[in-house]
Order: sequence, then C-alpha cells, then structure tokens
Amino acid sequence: MGVLDLVITIYTLIPVVLILIMIIAFSMLWPLAIGAAYSPSSKRVVRKMLEMAEVHPEDMVYDLGSGDGRIVIEAAINYQARSVGVEADPLRVAWSRLKVMRMGLSSQVKIIWGNLFHQNLSHATVVTLFLWGRTNENLKEKLQEELTPGTRVVSYVWKFKGWEPVKIDKKEQIYLYIIGESDCFPIPF
Ligand SMILES: C[S@@+](CC[C@H](N)C(=O)[O-])C[C@H]1O[C@@H](n2cnc3c(N)ncnc32)[C@H](O)[C@@H]1O
Repeated sequence: MGVLDLVITIYTLIPVVLILIMIIAFSMLWPLAIGAAYSPSSKRVVRKMLEMAEVHPEDMVYDLGSGDGRIVIEAAINYQARSVGVEADPLRVAWSRLKVMRMGLSSQVKIIWGNLFHQNLSHATVVTLFLWGRTNENLKEKLQEELTPGTRVVSYVWKFKGWEPVKIDKKEQIYLYIIGESDCFPIPF
C-alpha cells in the first residue's frame, strides 16, 4: 500500500471514528444528565431486591434504569415474572436486548429505550431502582400518581425521603416501600 492509499484510508476512517466517539459519549453522558450513572448491582443484591419484593409469577416487574438487564432477566428466569426494563443508554439497551433474545426470554422481558420519566408505569406491580438520591426525589410524585396501591418499590442505596420503608436490609442498603402504605401517614391531631 502506497503512502497515498494510506492517507486516503485514514481520511475515510476519520468520520467513522468520530461517529463512534459521538455515540459512546452520548451513551455515557445522556443518562448522567437525566438520572444516574451506570453502576451494576451485584448478583447478590439483585437476588435480595427481588426476594424482598416477594416477586411471584403474576408480577410485572419494572426496572427503572435497567442497565444490562440483569434485574429484569433474573425476575423472568427465577420468578417467572414478566418484566420491563427502561434504559436511556442505547448501547446498554442493545446489549440487554441481545441477552434477552439469546436467552429465549423475548415473550417475557421487554427493554424500552427511553427516559424513565416519560414511561407509563401504571402496569407495574413491582418497581426496582438503583438511581441517585435526587432522581428518586424527582420520581416520587410520578410513582404516587401512576402506581396502584400495593405496588412494591425496591430501591438500592437511595431512600425516598419522607417515605417509611416497610422492610430494610441494612447490610445491603436495600429499602422496600409499598405504595399506599409507605407514602401515606395519618394527619396527627
Ligand atoms: C446505577 S445503574 C443501575 C443498573 C441496573 N438497574 C442494576 O441495578 O444493575 C443506573 C442505570 O440507569 C440508567 N438511567 C439513568 N437515568 C435514566 C433515565 N432518566 N431514564 C432511563 N435510564 C436511566 C443509566 O443509564 C444506568 O444504566
């Protein structure tokens, strides 16, 4: 290959590399701007979260910010529940969809690419979250408006300020809330 060929090849590759860099940057930065950075829960934590919520086959589990899909996949495989993951990062959406497909779980698990604040959550019976404190705060009103009383909300690391957890795993920092119980207090006389 002559020098001219090499220069032409490099010039042709520049836009491809730039597009790839832009996709990766968008994947990493958009979730930061609208919710939380990616940090996967350990397998132990995933199991604990679903155990605390007492997930059963009739449940519809929503993981808000589903990352690589580990929670929704676990809910489908080990609890036979249907599940929906909502994820802002397009690369993680593609990866988790591929995992779901390869595991033959497409009829049970759906991965939505989008902002969790724009999804209708009214079908959820269990909601799992591992976001940031301020994101949980911003989400409180939406959860109260859209979720049916009795829906279990399990948050890893971050509490919902002013809500009373019905179960806490102090060691793992997992908090279980029940809509209609945890978020309602009688007015004191
Ligand atoms: C800490 S990770 C948790 C991933 C997964 N739930 C787990 O426990 O392994 C948070 C995830 O939420 C996603 N995320 C943050 N804000 C979001 C938003 N507004 N809408 C959808 N996904 C969001 C991030 O891209 C990231 O994958």
